[in-house]
Amino acid sequence: MAGNRAVAYMEPGKVEVIDIGYPDLVLRDGPGVNPLNVGRKCNHGVVLKVVTTNICGSDQHMVRGRTTAPSGLVLGHEITGEVIEVGSDVEFIKKGDLVSVPFNIACGRCRSCKERDTHICENVNPDRPGSAYGYVDMGGWVGGQSEYVMVPYADFQLLKFPDKEQAMEKITDLTMLSDIFPTGYHGAVSAGVKPGSTVYIAGAGPVGLAAAHSAQLLGAAVVIVGDLNGERLAQARSFGCETVNLREHPDLGEQIDQLLGVPEVDCAVDCVGFEASGHGSNAGEAPATVLNSIMEVTRAGGRLGIPGLYVTGDPGGIDEDAKIGTLKVRLGLGWAKAHTFVTGQTPVMKYHRDLMAAILSGRAQIAKAVNATVISIDDAPRGYQEFDQGAARKYVIDPHGLVK
Ligand SMILES: NC(=O)c1ccc[n+]([C@@H]2O[C@H](COP(=O)([O-])OP(=O)(O)OC[C@H]3O[C@@H](n4cnc5c(N)ncnc54)[C@H](O)[C@@H]3O)[C@@H](O)[C@H]2O)c1
Ligand SMILES: [Zn+2]
Ligand SMILES: [Zn+2]
Repeated sequence: MAGNRAVAYMEPGKVEVIDIGYPDLVLRDGPGVNPLNVGRKCNHGVVLKVVTTNICGSDQHMVRGRTTAPSGLVLGHEITGEVIEVGSDVEFIKKGDLVSVPFNIACGRCRSCKERDTHICENVNPDRPGSAYGYVDMGGWVGGQSEYVMVPYADFQLLKFPDKEQAMEKITDLTMLSDIFPTGYHGAVSAGVKPGSTVYIAGAGPVGLAAAHSAQLLGAAVVIVGDLNGERLAQARSFGCETVNLREHPDLGEQIDQLLGVPEVDCAVDCVGFEASGHGSNAGEAPATVLNSIMEVTRAGGRLGIPGLYVTGDPGGIDEDAKIGTLKVRLGLGWAKAHTFVTGQTPVMKYHRDLMAAILSGRAQIAKAVNATVISIDDAPRGYQEFDQGAARKYVIDPHGLVK
């Protein structure tokens, strides 16, 4: 039987490439696998030869030791691959298909899935609705930062690229369909971005840059991206965004006023999450900063898209409250301004087909916006490290050396 090299979380700050064995169409026991999921048969699934699999800011929360992820957990929820084995209950997906895998795992059979809320599928995680590959507390589905991976519910979930050769030409764009392009787009849509909108995006990581590009696609008049990382802000300017360096200019409203002539925007998106830094040069971690600042700068009646991740448990939280996900959010301000909040995982399947068409037609330039950078699986530990240090790159692992 062929082996299967994979990127695993070992301890805070450390990932390693290990051999986990070739997958079959069963969810077997392993680090982080929910006991109620062990032995689960997946004849509705397929085995993929992984073509590309990206490192995500969501992985970094685990690798920084900010979750309860166990040692040995195989990482990777952003997966694109070629089908090489098909389960007996798979009817339409075929061997040889090149597909994008939504990072959420969804059965297609429960109430949530039937309502297109595939981010809160009720049948894949025994602990709570919602699941993902290679993620703590998500049921234990094995991650795809590996050479081969098993994907369940293939007919329902997989997005097949219409032409393999054309897809390989644009693979560094298409690889973003598994998560960050739909996630950035969902952030912008849920913030109500439309033609002529003024938009503030908190965070210039890959999700923030994807949200900024999405806001442009939706017709925003001005997109302002804020971060404390100058290199990432330069990346945002490279495709036409305005930027605010919150390390140098802690007063966000004042900076928005200088750009727009008013201290407010129509729409705002939190692409940072619970590891947010306070503003200013010596600010430490302040987990409610982004939530409070987007309420401050969004006009009354506005909508706040919140794809940034918030957790129910954080061993590294700044205080006892933060350790259980209780933050000092100024809800009274949001209430007074009649804001709408949209949180949670992204329902990838609501968007991925349209965004694929936008990529294939040349309308969307997502790889360029996020500075997609292809690395080998052996270089994954370095990729994690550089990404953690704030490199203005989206690392794309190419485990078989298939990307030109
Ligand atoms: N909802 C979803 O389905 C979904 C999907 C993917 C990622 N995410 C989450 O989105 C977030 C962003 O992901 P990413 O890959 O871009 O992560 P990232 O860590 O690369 O980017 C976060 C950026 O926020 C910046 N930042 C910190 N404090 C800030 C502040 N107060 N104001 C503005 N910027 C600040 C950091 O400097 C960093 O550049 C993460 O929390 C990730 O878990 C959610
Ligand atoms: Zn991700
Ligand atoms: Zn479901």
